[in-house]
Amino acid sequence: MKHLIDIMELSVEEIQELIALAEDIMNFPEKYREKCKYKKLATLFFEPSTRTRLSFEAAMMELGGNVLGFSDANSSSSSKGESVADTVAVVGSYADIIAMRHPKEGAPTVATMHSDVPIINAGDGGHNHPTQTLTDLLTISLEKGKLNGLKIGLCGDLKFGRTVHSLAAAMSRYEGTELVLISPDELKLPSYVKNSYIKPNNIKYTQTTNLDEVMGELDVLYMTRVQRERFFNEEDYLRLKDSYILTAEKMRNAKADMTVMHPLPRVNEISTEIDKDKRAAYFRQARNGKYIRMALILKLLGVE
Ligand code: NCD
Repeated sequence: MKHLIDIMELSVEEIQELIALAEDIMNFPEKYREKCKYKKLATLFFEPSTRTRLSFEAAMMELGGNVLGFSDANSSSSSKGESVADTVAVVGSYADIIAMRHPKEGAPTVATMHSDVPIINAGDGGHNHPTQTLTDLLTISLEKGKLNGLKIGLCGDLKFGRTVHSLAAAMSRYEGTELVLISPDELKLPSYVKNSYIKPNNIKYTQTTNLDEVMGELDVLYMTRVQRERFFNEEDYLRLKDSYILTAEKMRNAKADMTVMHPLPRVNEISTEIDKDKRAAYFRQARNGKYIRMALILKLLGVE
């Protein structure tokens, strides 16, 4: 494997290896402190980010490597009209590995065609977000002790939410997965995700607009933000943005060990009163992101 553009490029076994490596890094960080000495990671972020970019950078630093890059398209030459192909061809001569986020679906795939160094898709438009999914799988594995046989509720903007697309695809390969797709009618999971991953794997799934109705059945509830930047008009966004708000009151109907996840940033979807609930895993999830990205960098750079 040279690049990581889509989570489905990794086999279930390879994902398991990355999870195991991330857990080893968590337990014995000192073993890994110099593994990427003299190596450089470039973060090319044409779209806003906090966790993804900073966790990539922290990951490389904790491996003893260095980081360079930009966090705003306006501060890069793309604002002068430079193509992704040219940017990547040049940055590949400065860095050993590139993490790229771009508002256009497919931009990181284009980048792989012009790069001699590994490209990691750090989110492309409303399409995919494989490293968030690795983070999510590590989190589910740590919180639940397994990835099989779980009933997972995906709630919110399932249409534009790239983290959900990648997670639904990935979970479809685990035995006994059941998916409950909770969204307003206008923000349903795209049919390509159902037709390419959920249905071919014979995964049981249901679609509903009502979170309360299904709350008590879920092992994991994955909340998402309504993706304002992908809407065509502000009116629709305003109408849909508060479709689901998880409150302590609603959590009373959930299983005592249901795990609440969210890729973050949160806007309104989860009331802050839930942060203290031990079922709230979203800040642990964000922390896990650094470790799984350390594992991924080691794998893509072929470091033993
Ligand atoms: C997500 C993203 O960028 O897609 N954030 C993240 O990477 N943790 C989710 C979001 O922006 O809503």
